Amino acid sequence: MKVSVTTLSLKDLDVDLLIIPVGQSLARTRAAQIGGPIGEALSTALMDFDGRPEETLLCYPASGRSHRVAVVGLGYLEEVTREVLRRAGAAGAHLAMKTKATTVALCLPDSEFSAEVTGQTLAEGYMLASYEYNRYKAHPDEERTITERLVLHAGTDEKSARRGAERGRIEAEATITARDLVNLSPHEKTPTLLGKMVERFGRKYGYEVSVWDRSDIEKEKMGGLLGVNRGSLEPPVMIEMTWKPGKAGNSRPVVLVGKGIVFDTGGLSLKPTKDSMDHMKADMAGAAAVIGAMEAIARLDVPLYVMGLIPATDNRPGQDAYVPGDVLRMHSGKTVEVLNTDAEGRLILADALSYAKLYRPEIVLDLATLTGAQVVALGSQVAAVMTQEDVDAEERMNAVMAAAERSGDLLHPMPMHAHYADALKSNVADIKNIGNREAGSVTAAKFLEHFVDYPWVHIDMAGPSFLKTGLPYRPAGGTGFGVRLLTEFIRDYAYPKKR
Ligand code: BES
Ligand code: ZN
Ligand code: ZN
Repeated sequence: MKVSVTTLSLKDLDVDLLIIPVGQSLARTRAAQIGGPIGEALSTALMDFDGRPEETLLCYPASGRSHRVAVVGLGYLEEVTREVLRRAGAAGAHLAMKTKATTVALCLPDSEFSAEVTGQTLAEGYMLASYEYNRYKAHPDEERTITERLVLHAGTDEKSARRGAERGRIEAEATITARDLVNLSPHEKTPTLLGKMVERFGRKYGYEVSVWDRSDIEKEKMGGLLGVNRGSLEPPVMIEMTWKPGKAGNSRPVVLVGKGIVFDTGGLSLKPTKDSMDHMKADMAGAAAVIGAMEAIARLDVPLYVMGLIPATDNRPGQDAYVPGDVLRMHSGKTVEVLNTDAEGRLILADALSYAKLYRPEIVLDLATLTGAQVVALGSQVAAVMTQEDVDAEERMNAVMAAAERSGDLLHPMPMHAHYADALKSNVADIKNIGNREAGSVTAAKFLEHFVDYPWVHIDMAGPSFLKTGLPYRPAGGTGFGVRLLTEFIRDYAYPKKR
């Protein structure tokens, strides 16, 4: 989709569909402001429209260049949030699909947000709502028409709107990269193939990629990743991505770690199929989020040294598969008693987190579809976030929560009191890989905490990574959750004052 910005007068726009977001109870005033055939068509149609959030109405001016005009409600202007703008963009995209419009203009409404933020969120909402995954369809939905050209109509602040629209487009495209990876069939994303894909992305977007093979992983003594991989026919990989621009303000990196279980059967602790194993191709959504974020960071040329680390394998029962009772010696030297082979994500993440110490990182964020308990606690629209309890915990948490709020990838903090770690005591090893029935997402985080010695944030996104039924700008399937969260976090980290 091409995205551009114009300041032409509305009557001179020649598009299949012109979309005008309008605040609640302001439709009449807006119609009068616009005037001409567009304003007239709007004012006759307005008896059926009040401007409530996501309310839409389509009308047909008697004359003029654009044959269809739609209004999209924003609710009361003083209550408009970035999410309202994103959803208004999404509502516009749904109208464009319904009317089979290929060229669309979308007006930037006035609100307390700058033209930059408005341009970004509208473009994001519009592009993310237009996404369809049709790689495996012989006849992709022929009913559906995808917008070829989206023109954002700005009032005066054209430069700022353009900056925002460009950023919105890049962040949406990077989110789509992650969605595509999650939606891809597992046999097309074996660890080796995933490594090759990331090498290609690195060449395309300008970041460095190194893919370690099994012998590299053995040399590093990554007993967690190797243990999980034992049942597999496919070798594991560790993917290392580096974005280190000359102008980076930091000499120690910010490291992003993503869980790359390309398929989780549960291993010998086999999962049931329905509503469980049947969507475990999404168990690499944390990895996909890191890959998408590295793309966005490089394309936005963010002046920050950032690394991505992805341990990747599938988790299967096999003749040599690891078994409940096995004790693994991890990269850090700690031993782990495996009591459930389905708690595999923490084992591969632990090795990546402990390897990250080598870089003396300023901060590490890991993203993982780690526990069913996260879904039970928070559902499919909010991920859990945890950080170690030290003097900077609050500041770190505030920064991540602010990025969540800006990006629409929502988070809720979970407690990390010391006593939760008691559930991981083992009779034979340093720790075991499962707790009891209580607070499963917290004990998983407590497990990971054993392997970090730097400021660390853990995001359990089991619920929001994959949807059975779609949301306004997240169709069913892989959501790309985390890409925009990480990108907004990193942008703010690089330019702390420029929110
Ligand atoms: N990949 C799953 C977690 C998951 C569940 C992701 C639902 C997405 C949706 C993870 O590897 C897992 O199986 N965790 C176990 C841990 C348990 C055995 C301690 C779980 O949550 O049941
Ligand atoms: Zn599992
Ligand atoms: Zn898993």
